[in-house]
Amino acid sequence: MKNKKVGIQVEAPQIDQVETLKVDQTEMPTVDQVEVLSVDQVDAPKADKVVQHKPVLLNEVLHFLAPQPGKVYVDVTLGGGGHTRAILTTQPDCKVIGMDWDESVIKTTGAALKAEFPDRFTPVWGNFSKINAALNKIGVKKVDGILADFGTSQMQIANTAGLSIFQDKFLDMRMSSAFFKVTAQEVLKTFSEKDLAKIFFEYGEERFGNRIARAIVETRYKTPLRTTKQLAELIESVVPGSKGSKIHPATRVFQALRIFVNKELENIQSFLANSIKVLAPDSRVVCISFHSLEDRIVKQFFREQSKFPLIKSEVLTPRVCTATEEELAINRSARSAKLRAMRFDI
Ligand SMILES: C[S@@+](CC[C@H](N)C(=O)[O-])C[C@H]1O[C@@H](n2cnc3c(N)ncnc32)[C@H](O)[C@@H]1O
Repeated sequence: MKNKKVGIQVEAPQIDQVETLKVDQTEMPTVDQVEVLSVDQVDAPKADKVVQHKPVLLNEVLHFLAPQPGKVYVDVTLGGGGHTRAILTTQPDCKVIGMDWDESVIKTTGAALKAEFPDRFTPVWGNFSKINAALNKIGVKKVDGILADFGTSQMQIANTAGLSIFQDKFLDMRMSSAFFKVTAQEVLKTFSEKDLAKIFFEYGEERFGNRIARAIVETRYKTPLRTTKQLAELIESVVPGSKGSKIHPATRVFQALRIFVNKELENIQSFLANSIKVLAPDSRVVCISFHSLEDRIVKQFFREQSKFPLIKSEVLTPRVCTATEEELAINRSARSAKLRAMRFDI
């Protein structure tokens, strides 16, 4: 890392970073299995409480990333900073760059960590899909390890309009309004019945996707769908036997819309491909996924990379790593977390 003084990087993204979404432009992976994210009632944080994000698989992250003295690491999903703080504390002679596309994360977590570790922590505002460009911008060419903890933080579920079914808010769902123009409300308002059904099936494995899409299209001519409550109630009214179910019947549709609006899977694909460009010899990549669509992308990428003869690399998790009973007892959000790690010698 160059000895260059870097302040908090809060710059408006370039116009080419703000992309419009069209269903037929989006390469949708085929789905064989989708798990539902932790958006059920038990986990729904209350907006009026100060919500903190508990980092998942903390010991496992430290074990697989294995931070070393004098080395540089990137946490591309800074969030509440739990993983970053643990890395900086466990290895008092390493540096960490903390990235997030949510500007509020950079202004809160980023600023707090910068104050606590002024010479060892650098916050960067950006989309991890362009990790190489973001590092290049702050004069960093190679790093020794990368951590990605995909998805949303508990703070985002509590505070970002549209992410929680249990708060009646505008159907926005963008984790970063600076990076995306199109809200979930606009998707629901303008996309065809066929395209909506495709989103619900491919990103949420919603078996009543066709029925829900039809109800949305029929309803929106009379009453514009603007809020989470309107959408959740519409889905409840068309999905059979949804009363008494442990998860809310709208959970899968909310998940699908969030993944689509934020281009979550495309970002992970670009992130992995671009990560290779910034890895130093004998470096590590650790990824935590929360549903099988994400996990499958990571698993396939690691498998492909391990086949290249010129890259001496090794998958460190031949079996996916999940939370221990002890962790699950204190953090239910960890129940669907899956960690995969790989050592690269490029
Ligand atoms: C699960 S939270 C990370 C929590 C964090 N590891 C901690 O210990 O508190 C995921 C974070 O990644 C960020 N994120 C999601 N997709 C991103 C992307 N494409 N680029 C940058 N940040 C992203 C979200 O804004 C969120 O803050």
